[in-house]
Amino acid sequence: MHLFEYRDGRLHCEDVDLTRVAKEFGTPTYVYSAGTVLDHYMRLDNALAPIDHLICYAVKANSNRTILKLLAEAGAGFDIVSGGELFRVFAAGGDPAKCTFAGVGKSREEIEYALKEGVYCFNVESEQELEQIDNIAGAKNLRAPIALRVNPDVEAHTHEYIATGSHQNKFGIALDHIAAVYERAARMRNIEIVGVQMHIGSQITEAKPFANAIDKVAPLLRELKSKYAIKFFSIGGGMGIIYRRALESGPGKWWRDHGGEASAFSVRDYADAILPQLRELGIRILVEPGRFLVGNAGVLLTRVLHVKQSGGKKFAIVDAGMNDLIRPALYQSYHEIVPVKQPKTERERKISKVDIVGPVCESGDFFARDREMPELHEDDLLAIMSGGAYGFAMASNYNSRTLPAESLVRGNKFALIRKRQTWEDLLCGEMEPL
Ligand code: LLP
Repeated sequence: MHLFEYRDGRLHCEDVDLTRVAKEFGTPTYVYSAGTVLDHYMRLDNALAPIDHLICYAVKANSNRTILKLLAEAGAGFDIVSGGELFRVFAAGGDPAKCTFAGVGKSREEIEYALKEGVYCFNVESEQELEQIDNIAGAKNLRAPIALRVNPDVEAHTHEYIATGSHQNKFGIALDHIAAVYERAARMRNIEIVGVQMHIGSQITEAKPFANAIDKVAPLLRELKSKYAIKFFSIGGGMGIIYRRALESGPGKWWRDHGGEASAFSVRDYADAILPQLRELGIRILVEPGRFLVGNAGVLLTRVLHVKQSGGKKFAIVDAGMNDLIRPALYQSYHEIVPVKQPKTERERKISKVDIVGPVCESGDFFARDREMPELHEDDLLAIMSGGAYGFAMASNYNSRTLPAESLVRGNKFALIRKRQTWEDLLCGEMEPL
């Protein structure tokens, strides 16, 4: 479910007309729905209620402080992958004791910071990293809580860039080798074994790979539980969401939200597939969802700058670019794009194919190709849907374009939660020393 729908012919986020947001804050601007984020959190929390669990939101999906604060207040912990993310969690009032520190390469400075602040655990991805953490903790007279990341070697059926649970990937420690690494860890003086972690990939749209991975790791878990009294098993994130909603019945019928599930296979399916095995393991379960919580809770508002015909094709050039939302360029991913003002007359509803592209100097700078859209005109406002996860978080200043604004809607209120960058900001930190 998400709270974006047409009311009186205008796309609304909760009770706010998105034309008002564009008028107030300009474009391109990300708009997030607080109600949607919290609804997704509650759905997952309720579905996992039969077992002891902690939802650690994957900060990388959307790290705006206000989003983190919403989730911290709802009770979430956080899955962080850098010192910067821990710093953000702090700024948002999150609890470091509910943070797991993941990532294949952590710097000394980051490890020291996380140790000092007392994170719940370090997710360790290699023996080299384990030694490094042991040394750093020893120098500080501390014991570092760790979980090893197991690579279960399962097929996640997702884009190759975001599949992480097979032997082909750089992530984790192979299942057949990991018991030996735990033995080494147990002999290290400054290491405390507290758990096991895995993450098989992102945007996974079926429950089976999760269940398969749990089944594969379960025997190891039982062994580790009896040997080291481990406290938790983190099953990672990766629940996929719906990016593509079928037009109601082909071209000409307008995209509408039907209040469906946020996830491609629903929280219920996910819980039904994994709860029986997890319950049997009798251990605290951590989940690390990013996209599921925030993906469908955000849109990128953009305005049409020009419509041009060229080489038999029609292009709508919008004021957002690949620097604002890189997913289509990087993963050829599909995002629904809808006009903020719903076309009314027959003439307005006339469908034609158009490439919706940004102003960046690369042909890869597109949001949609040959997309069936109503007649588009200069100044039309469009919403690029499902942009709440890995949207702003992956934005850049490429082409010296300023980072877009971010705003939050809560009921009938809306506010800026990050100012649009200025051209002065672009020079911030630059020097002319020689
Ligand atoms: N845990 C770990 C260890 C991860 O590496 C990730 C995501 C997550 C949790 C959260 O996954 P999620 O629930 O959001 O699927 N930029 C890409 C996605 C990269 C995901 C990286 N790791 C995209 O836009 O699709």
